[in-house]
Amino acid sequence: MSKAFDAVGILGIGASLPEKVLTNYDLEKMVDTSDEWITKRTGISERRILPEDVPAYMLGIDAAKKALVNAGMDAEDIDLIIVTTSTPDYLTPSTSCIIQDGINAKKAAAFDLNAACSGFIYGMSVVRQFIINGTYKHILLVACEALSKVTDWKDRNTCVLFGDGVGAAVFGPVEKDYGILATHLGADGSLGRCLTIPCCSINDEDLEKRPNGNKMTLWMDGSEVFKFAVRVVSQAVTRVLDEKNLNLDDISMIIPHQANIRIIDGASKRLGIPQEKMYKNLHKYGNISSASIPVALCEAVSEDMVKKGDNIVLVGFGGGLTWASALLRWNK
Ligand code: ACO
Repeated sequence: MSKAFDAVGILGIGASLPEKVLTNYDLEKMVDTSDEWITKRTGISERRILPEDVPAYMLGIDAAKKALVNAGMDAEDIDLIIVTTSTPDYLTPSTSCIIQDGINAKKAAAFDLNAACSGFIYGMSVVRQFIINGTYKHILLVACEALSKVTDWKDRNTCVLFGDGVGAAVFGPVEKDYGILATHLGADGSLGRCLTIPCCSINDEDLEKRPNGNKMTLWMDGSEVFKFAVRVVSQAVTRVLDEKNLNLDDISMIIPHQANIRIIDGASKRLGIPQEKMYKNLHKYGNISSASIPVALCEAVSEDMVKKGDNIVLVGFGGGLTWASALLRWNK
C-alpha cells in the first residue's frame, strides 16, 4: 500500500492544569515529611491538584479546545481522538468518548490507551501510523491524568511525588522531513509489580504491600523504578538518534518525563550532555504521568524555546514497566 502522507507533526498544542496548588509546606502538615527532603530527593516544590468532585476529563476538554485553537482547527476536522491515561474517571465510557462529546467532535472515532507515564509517546507512535497509512488525517491526542484520585495521602513514599494535569496536541500531515522522525517503544512486564494501581481486583501480595491497606491507591517500589528509569532513558534517547544517524550535538532539547530531578540529572550524565539541554518543570507540577511530556512541550513552545527545524527528543518511562522515546523535528 502506498503511503498517504510522508510526514506527521504537531499542528497545535495546549495544556490545562488545576488552579489549586499543593506545596511541600502543605504536605508537611499532612504526613511526616519536609520541604527539605522533598526538594532535595525529588526536585519538586509544588503540584496542582483537582478538587475531589471535579473529574479529570474537565481538564481534558479544556486542553483539547486549546490545542484546536492553537492549530486553527475546528473539532469537526478531527477524525480520531486518542486519550492516554492511567487514571480514567470511568472505565466506560472512555475518557476519549467523554472528550469527543465535550468538544463536539462528531466525526471522530475515540479510544483510550494506557502505557502509564510513557503513554503520550506510545500515542504519538500510533497517531503516526494512522496518518502515514492514510486511515485518518487529523488526530487529537490528549494525555489526561489525575494522580491525586489514586494517591494514598497517608503514604509519604508516594503522596509527595504526583500531581494532576492535561496536555493535548493535534497531529496531521506536515512537510517532508519534519514532524515525528522516529519513535521507539519498550516494555518489561516482569517488572510490572514495582508500580501498581489496582482497579477491578487486587491480589493478596499487592494488598499486603500497601501501608494503609487502601486497595485502590498507587503503590510503588521507588528505588527499583529509579534504577530502571536512569538506565532506559539514556538507552531510549540513543535509540531514536541512531535510527536517523543523528548525534546529541544535533539535538536542541530533550524533554524527559518529569518524575525526579535526580533521574533527569543521572540520565544527562550518562548521555554526557549539558543539563541545560534537559527541559525541566517538575518543580511546579510534580509527576503528572503521561501528561508531563506534552505539558512540558507546550510550555517550551510558549516560552519560545523551540523554533522551526529544531530536533527535540521526548523520552518517557513508567508503570508497566514501559519506556518510549520520539525524535521530533519542529515543523511550525
Ligand atoms: N519525606 C521524608 N522521608 C521520606 C519520604 C518523604 N516524603 N519518602 C521516603 N522517605 C524516607 C524513607 O522512609 C526512607 O527512610 P528510612 O531510610 O528510614 O527507611 C528514606 O527516606 C529513603 O527512602 P528511599 O526510598 O531510599 O528514598 P529515595 O532517595 O530513593 O527517593 C523516590 C524515593 C523519590 C520515590 C525515588 O526512589 C524515585 O523518584 N523513584 C522513581 C519514581 C518514578 O520515577 N516513578 C515514575 C513512574 S510513575 C508512573 O508511571 C505513574
